[in-house]
Amino acid sequence: MLSRIKGFVYLLLMVPCFMVLGGLTDTMAEGDPDYDPPLAPLGPVPVPPDNPITPAKVELGKLLYFDPKLTGDASLARVDCHDPKQGWAFADPICRGYPGTVHWRNCQTTINVGYYGKLFWQGNSKSLERQAKSAAQGAVAGNGEVDVMVERLRQTPMYMKLFKEAFGVELPTVPLAYAAIATFERAVLSQTDTPLDRYLKGDKNALSDKAKKGLELFTGKANCIECHNGPMLTDEKYYNLGVPRAVEWLDTGLNQITFRYELYAKGSHEVMYREFKDDPGLYYTTKRKEDMGKFRTPSLRYIKYTAPYMHAGQFFTLEEVIDFYNEGGGENEFTEKIGNKTPILKPLNLTDEEKEALVAFLEELSGEEIRIGEVKVPPYEVFPDISGLTQAKAKRTGLEEYLSQWGLE
Ligand code: HEC
Repeated sequence: MLSRIKGFVYLLLMVPCFMVLGGLTDTMAEGDPDYDPPLAPLGPVPVPPDNPITPAKVELGKLLYFDPKLTGDASLARVDCHDPKQGWAFADPICRGYPGTVHWRNCQTTINVGYYGKLFWQGNSKSLERQAKSAAQGAVAGNGEVDVMVERLRQTPMYMKLFKEAFGVELPTVPLAYAAIATFERAVLSQTDTPLDRYLKGDKNALSDKAKKGLELFTGKANCIECHNGPMLTDEKYYNLGVPRAVEWLDTGLNQITFRYELYAKGSHEVMYREFKDDPGLYYTTKRKEDMGKFRTPSLRYIKYTAPYMHAGQFFTLEEVIDFYNEGGGENEFTEKIGNKTPILKPLNLTDEEKEALVAFLEELSGEEIRIGEVKVPPYEVFPDISGLTQAKAKRTGLEEYLSQWGLE
């Protein structure tokens, strides 16, 4: 109740602010359901106060991003699903999974992930530190077991040294490894100097003429700005656009296994387990019927390098994406059964020239491709005795670190 009153007071205060800033007049078209923050250059990446960026942590995080030690069988690293050569994503429609499985959704790029408030297509992870845990331990992702993963780090002398430098600890722990990976992602995988950023900062020649026409359509006739807005080009809200069914789920046994497994592992009831053919998305988090098939609006930055597109890679090119929106979105199991397709999407009647302009604009949202040189991961060595360290103490150090990381001490 208190939070409701607070929310109301906040609204009362904020609405006049927007009006003073002229936001309402610039960006709210007639019949527009909410305020759309204008596109803006990307500022510095937000950093959580309990995990500041330091050079030692960035260096450690970089090695861990490329090192398969943080998975079940030490065969997969972050880089295997978020590969610099594949737009820091994975070029198949559905991402690879832990050996013997496939994932059930498309791999998103790790470029600019530090700016998201909600991670994953379902928006169900609220920080990069927590996301790193899901990647390392999730059944069809890393499938890692904490005690095994930590032992691997402790039998790698380079990590003993780097964890001490980065965190001042005698022994590596898995939560600290996640903190380091998150730091690497924030510090190195942000791109703030794209043609769009330069244009919005005042360089009127930074965008090509075609892309400028595309920008006009994006914020006007094509109404993309309704959901893809602000510096990251996302409102981080959830919609069912009627993205069509992923063919892999119907055709491929391994995909079926993961899809069915996720249905029961995430608490869906028997009928859904047996009958569903589309991904219920946000429903997994809220268990509200009206949320079936909704996904969090993704950023459109770096998109030039990250085909295929949508939550199960349903479209291979940006042209196909534009055709989809031009037709006013599509249909899937949930738009048909529940009728929850967003009313925002309407046929756009774009000409071929306008479609091309939109694609040009989407491409100029991305700067140069980001690559970093080859990273050599540190080898194991049997670590010599640490004086005074017993098994019980090693375990306890790990546990204390673990609990404090989640505020559970
Ligand atoms: C009603 C909100 C909304 C509107 C309007 C909208 N989008 Fe989207 N967009 C989304 C959501 C949600 C997704 C993810 C959908 C999914 O995978 O099911 C998405 C996905 C995309 C993707 C794929 C991104 C990726 O990483 O795979 C592109 C490209 C895109 N939109 C471009 C556009 C363009 C261009 C327009 C205007 C013509 C537009 N969108 C209008 C909400 C919207």
